[in-house]
Amino acid sequence: MDSQDAIQLLEADHREAEALFDHYEKVKEEASAQEKMKIAKKVCSALLIHMEIEEKIFYPQVRKKIDDDDLMNESMVEHARAKDLIKQIGQLKPNDPMFDAKIKVLGEQITRHVEEEESEMFPKVKKAKLDLSLIGAELRKGQNRMREEHGLTPVAA
Ligand SMILES: [Fe+2]
Ligand SMILES: [Fe+2]
Repeated sequence: MDSQDAIQLLEADHREAEALFDHYEKVKEEASAQEKMKIAKKVCSALLIHMEIEEKIFYPQVRKKIDDDDLMNESMVEHARAKDLIKQIGQLKPNDPMFDAKIKVLGEQITRHVEEEESEMFPKVKKAKLDLSLIGAELRKGQNRMREEHGLTPVAA
């Protein structure tokens, strides 16, 4: 795989999360509680890792270069809201009547957040003087370190 720049990497993560949410919606009526738990855990881990590398690596560098603190602050609030919902999901059993509802709302919130990143933040990032390949490599490194911590397969650089 060619090494991705920062935006390509983050957008690939976004597509992966969307695919997992779609998959959950498609199978939730028929799937066993165990199967649903597996998908839920996968999407929640992927999102936690994604938000972590954005907050620790991407956002701070972007904030310095684009003159839009409001946008960056709103993004942080949206992450906090998603993390709170992920925490609530982690405390539920998959046969809990609220499980599907929380996954669905998390998916909707993430879709909206992703749209804002891709339509407002990323275009500003592309215009700013940032070394997106270097940041992409930093993101990949952080992502792989955290994937291991979450027991997921690392992705090749
Ligand atoms: Fe984000
Ligand atoms: Fe993102």
